Amino acid sequence: MTQINIGLLGLGTVGSGVVAILQKNQPRLAVLDAHVVKAAVRTITPARQAKYPGIELTTDTLAVVDDPNIDIVVEVMGGVATTYPLLERAIKNGKHVISANKDLLSVHGVQLAQLAKEHHVGLYYEAAVMGSIPILHTLANAYAGDTITRVAGIANGTSNFILTQMVRAGSSYAEALRLAQEKGFAESDPTNDVEGFDAAYKLLILSRFAFGMTPALGDVTRQGITTLTRADFAAASVWGYTIKPLAVAAMTNGQLNLTVSPHLVPAAHPLSAVFDENNAVMIDSVNTKQITMTGPGAGSLPTASSVIADLITIASAIRAGIEPAPFVDAATPNTIATADQR
Ligand code: HSE
Repeated sequence: MTQINIGLLGLGTVGSGVVAILQKNQPRLAVLDAHVVKAAVRTITPARQAKYPGIELTTDTLAVVDDPNIDIVVEVMGGVATTYPLLERAIKNGKHVISANKDLLSVHGVQLAQLAKEHHVGLYYEAAVMGSIPILHTLANAYAGDTITRVAGIANGTSNFILTQMVRAGSSYAEALRLAQEKGFAESDPTNDVEGFDAAYKLLILSRFAFGMTPALGDVTRQGITTLTRADFAAASVWGYTIKPLAVAAMTNGQLNLTVSPHLVPAAHPLSAVFDENNAVMIDSVNTKQITMTGPGAGSLPTASSVIADLITIASAIRAGIEPAPFVDAATPNTIATADQR
């Protein structure tokens, strides 16, 4: 049995977590005999190379996607313009692809899935949505015999952290944002997180998995958290509510409605108890009624564990000599379809 070779595009927070988990060589991983052999990074120093014995570091991304010895490309470098052609090329080269890149997959996921199908390779991206929470595998596998009516949750950890600070520590929005930046949750330009774009991208991916639909960013009604004040939380609590940053994809009368906004949530509701930078998702369906999953939405090992779940799926298919099942079928490109068009 020859070993399965993995090439990384990026070796930052998530990439280093993937290497760390693989190096622990847990029994289920050991049996698959899958190893990172090469990683494309921005800068190589002797110290960095010494930290990763057995992994060839390169600054050339094509040296990964064009390497005939690499079976699986794991993309954890982010970006869209440069990264999309790289993933296309990897797939055309017959490589299975795993990505944690929500910006890329929310826009180009359908095209890449189609390409992967044509080239008989797997394309998996569990880590792109809600970090550690196995939401995409759940939606892809567990609901085949069910009908989902709503997927709702806290999809942006930075916004949840900021609102947690406002409600628990009595911070102003500006103070809470500063702390989020100090802790490395929010970028120096926090727009994507606090204006709801990040959650909206995740909602686009969730819509494909939950409803087989392919909405675009413009289909999401979006409101950020930037204008919330301590007075809003005080007023909400008088009536037994708190305020949470929710992303909701709901099917009503055959129409998919997508919203990202701060939302009044009753104090006794499970989503009220999801604090700090954690994420949560609640799935409503006809048969199962309701389930909720909660967990870290970002971070090295939590996000890497979702990459590892994808690796296990793909490597197991390679070992079984079969094509990995498509993660989700490509549907109608970038329009909201009604339920009967599914
Ligand atoms: N910026 C994102 C968040 C990171 O705060 O949730 C994970 O996608």
